[in-house]
Amino acid sequence: MKLISKPEKISKDHYLLKIQYQGSDPIPGQFVSIKVNEGTDPLLRRPFSIFDYSENELKIVFKVAGKATSILQNSALPENTDISGPYGKGFTPLENSKVLLIGGGVGNAPLHYLSNKLRKTGCNVTYIYGSRSAEYIYCRDDFHKCSDSTYYMTDDGTDGEKGFVSEKLSQLIKKEFFDFAYICGPSPMMKLCADILKAQNINGEVSLENYFGCGIGICSGCTVKTVNGNRRACIDGPVFNINEILL
Ligand SMILES: Cc1cc2nc3c(=O)[nH]c(=O)nc-3n(C[C@H](O)[C@H](O)[C@H](O)COP(=O)(O)OP(=O)(O)OC[C@H]3O[C@@H](n4cnc5c(N)ncnc54)[C@H](O)[C@@H]3O)c2cc1C
Ligand code: FES
Repeated sequence: MKLISKPEKISKDHYLLKIQYQGSDPIPGQFVSIKVNEGTDPLLRRPFSIFDYSENELKIVFKVAGKATSILQNSALPENTDISGPYGKGFTPLENSKVLLIGGGVGNAPLHYLSNKLRKTGCNVTYIYGSRSAEYIYCRDDFHKCSDSTYYMTDDGTDGEKGFVSEKLSQLIKKEFFDFAYICGPSPMMKLCADILKAQNINGEVSLENYFGCGIGICSGCTVKTVNGNRRACIDGPVFNINEILL
């Protein structure tokens, strides 16, 4: 796998990267692992979800958070970037179902690819896109194209409605039936949404974005608790059922 574009700024602090990939179609929710330079700082590879895939071109969206993502952002020689994957257990694909997708911040990235796939398998997709404010929202047109209804929620009310995705979730499930929900975003957001869904007996999955070490199942640095004991998020996840994971 190799980078085929320099980072394209798509909103405040968020960048899109295109990667050449030849292999079978990735499963939504899987991630690629990137070593941003040849040196030892940073030493560890970083995981990034698949935002989109078609015709040997895979896309990721990254938010500048620290050392590795700052290097990626300023990457003048993208061919030095070492990329592997796709890895991990992705989302369960459904067909002909009414589904709800709930994303927070950069956590919307894997849900975009998922949403595209779900529409192709006859699902009706309702999307709740959460962001701190309007300036952080990315690829708005793409999200519109891959959902039947889209709701924007911002912390400061600068786009869509002011409030949290969990509030919109509570409103929607009072008036509409959903077969399944898919969630990705900050841990407190995912916990709140999962609790609301479980209370209404709606099944769903979350994609975790916790810290990874090796990213390939060796170091146990990504251990999470589930009702079935400890699991390694990098190989047993990052997607888990909301009734299995202990958030
Ligand atoms: C399965 C998976 C998929 C991911 N997909 C994406 C993606 O599509 N796009 C994207 O931008 N990021 C994604 N992430 C998170 C991404 O891997 C981290 O943001 C990245 O490792 C940061 O590296 P860094 O060296 O730039 O920042 P660091 O120097 O490692 O961290 C900078 C700051 O960000 C905080 N931070 C870093 N990582 C995390 C984290 N995982 N959770 C909470 N806080 C964190 C640290 O506390 C620190 O304050 C994903 C993570 C996982 C596990
Ligand atoms: S990150 Fe090393 S086992 Fe998961």
